Amino acid sequence: MDQIRITGGVALQGDITISGAKNAALPLMASCLLTDKPLTLSNVPHLADITTMASLLVHLGVLLTVDGTTGDNGEKGRTLMLTASGAISTLAPYDIVRKMRASVVVLGPLLARFGEAKVSLPGGCAIGLRPINYHLDAFAQMGASISLEDGYVLAKAPSEGLYGADITFPSVSVGATENVLMAATLANGVTTLRNAAMEPEINDLIDCLCAMGAQISGRGSDALVVTGVDSLTAADHSVLPDRIEAGTYAIAAAITGGKLVLHKAPVQEMGSTLQALQDAGVVCDYNEEQKTLSVYQSGAIKAVNIITRPHPDFPTDMQAQFTALMCLSDGECSVTETIFENRFMHIPELQRMGTDIAIDGKTITVTGVPKLHSAEVMATDLRASVSLVLAALAAEGETIINRVYHIDRGYERIEEKLRACGAKIERVRAAL
Ligand code: EPZ
Repeated sequence: MDQIRITGGVALQGDITISGAKNAALPLMASCLLTDKPLTLSNVPHLADITTMASLLVHLGVLLTVDGTTGDNGEKGRTLMLTASGAISTLAPYDIVRKMRASVVVLGPLLARFGEAKVSLPGGCAIGLRPINYHLDAFAQMGASISLEDGYVLAKAPSEGLYGADITFPSVSVGATENVLMAATLANGVTTLRNAAMEPEINDLIDCLCAMGAQISGRGSDALVVTGVDSLTAADHSVLPDRIEAGTYAIAAAITGGKLVLHKAPVQEMGSTLQALQDAGVVCDYNEEQKTLSVYQSGAIKAVNIITRPHPDFPTDMQAQFTALMCLSDGECSVTETIFENRFMHIPELQRMGTDIAIDGKTITVTGVPKLHSAEVMATDLRASVSLVLAALAAEGETIINRVYHIDRGYERIEEKLRACGAKIERVRAAL
């Protein structure tokens, strides 16, 4: 397995272009199953998870063409054209779904358009059990029969198709909102989704579905109303830039005492993250004309308490990264994780780098230390892994991060982007 080696202590200086958002691109790609017309997605990031979703869709029979250079700095991303017009299989196999649990969002489109779907249960992951009961309960309310067999979900719509329903999610779920939203676009009648997720990636999906001819109101709210239509049409859509990648690199600037200029950062979607950074003494200057976000630390890093919650509050996907920054603060703060039950996997690894962190259930107490020390550490999940990169950039000496495939799932060319800003970072290919 590849390693990333970082010699810390360099104040990063330079420009980074933010790529398209993984968590927007994945459901957008799945939405191609809702129509037999071509869906063209631009600004698609080069990520392992995108490749996994592409391989699943091709396995199902989608015609996929990949076009587009990445430009000299990857700023254009790739353009994918996805057409689900031929014979489409409704079986999403375990060996693909197990690689990426977000594959489950093909269930809604397949069920809505083809009347049935057999999708492997995604299973849990390092950060939690990750059940899909909200997804399945909603499809059942829309008339689908749902059964579980040999680790697969078997879903079958009524012969006349799914019908609209008034659905209230027990708690906010991004994936359930996306899955059911897509299915509702082709259902008979009106579907209302209450307590729906309001993450920006949901709005990006709504924009794309509406471009395909879907009738959806309530964008940006927790109550979405969908009037089903007979079919959807072709559309072109550019993937929303990644607010989590942008937040991650903003912390890279702060934690190294450098200054980064982020291009294409979706600042309008980053309110809670930018507020927490500013409370920590990080200067975040947005240049409206140039559409750039300049980030640098001004003075000591201040300790800031955070609680992760659904958007628009502080995102769980930024928790590990912000914790890394707090490890070098001038005080003590608490970080509470309310979304996932096991999202502190980075703590034992950070502790090996000289941090002072105490875990008490869903809350950790971070006491800032003057400096971090390098160590050999292990990545466990996507965001935990990148928090180790951030700590390594600030630590004295060379840190070795193992199992970096976790990072490749969500950060496009991370070592290139950081090296271009002065980081001493290299990827060491594992001996075969
Ligand atoms: C999406 O995961 C993101 N992934 C996650 O990003 C993100 O952390 C999460 O939303 C929360 O914002 C993608 O978009 C591909 P949820 P998702 O359904 O949809 C519980 C990353 O690092 N729940 O909003 O799987 C669930 O267990 C990844 O990029 C149920 O109980 O998250 C969790 O505790 C990690 N039953 C909570 O809800 C259900 O049917 C939120 O999960 C569904 C969810």
